[in-house]
Amino acid sequence: MSEQWPLKIAQITDCHLGPEPDYELNGQPVESHLLRVLEAVRDWRPHLLVATGDLTDFGDEAAYLRLNQHLNMVDVPVRVIPGNHDDGDVLARHLTGGRVALTFDWHRPPWTLLFLDSLIPGFPDGRVSQQELDRLAELGPAQLALVFVHHPPQPVGSDWIDAMGMRNGDDLLRVAEGLPGIQAIACGHVHHVYEDTSRHPAVLTTPSTSYQTLPVTPDFEVDTQPPGFRAFELYPDGQWTTHVTRVP
Ligand SMILES: [Fe+2]
Repeated sequence: MSEQWPLKIAQITDCHLGPEPDYELNGQPVESHLLRVLEAVRDWRPHLLVATGDLTDFGDEAAYLRLNQHLNMVDVPVRVIPGNHDDGDVLARHLTGGRVALTFDWHRPPWTLLFLDSLIPGFPDGRVSQQELDRLAELGPAQLALVFVHHPPQPVGSDWIDAMGMRNGDDLLRVAEGLPGIQAIACGHVHHVYEDTSRHPAVLTTPSTSYQTLPVTPDFEVDTQPPGFRAFELYPDGQWTTHVTRVP
């Protein structure tokens, strides 16, 4: 285990595992990419691993069972949230177990990490329920926090993905903006890096562990960048840093 401070949080996202281990998506062997990224995560020695949705491509049981084995190999607590490609019920039944848990908060005073479910079954876009917004509001204004959710709550400048964003992202941002302790909202879904640090909280997205997309394009275009993960380092005085690590 790493030293207690800084708290080291690794975020992976959009693994898109298929029914078979050799499943390819947009020409990318998604499972071997994931295993490489998880090795890099393990070498970084985080305190917590977060997986922010689209963990499988079709929501099938076999993919979640293999993913559970892969995530447990990192040997740290794991929190998972669903994305639009996931089946929330199958995920809950077959991915959780061992060190992998669903969206429960993670507390390491003075920090709390909050995980929100934005899945609308059968739809590519997302929504956070009033119940999830209430959970967010219950943090209170002073609580230092990071929030993780699959769909970004604001457009990222690419028409194709912004057309399937978060339906009520404005509601989420309104609640979050009223809570100055929330430092960042970290998302997946877009398969590239987007960072809006001009606002509080910051809105961040993270490269996929599967295939990448070109940022700021009207139409979907695959990018040749390698997969990666996002690292957060949190300090007891409320300072924090983040960076993206690519795994060639
Ligand atoms: Fe997604």
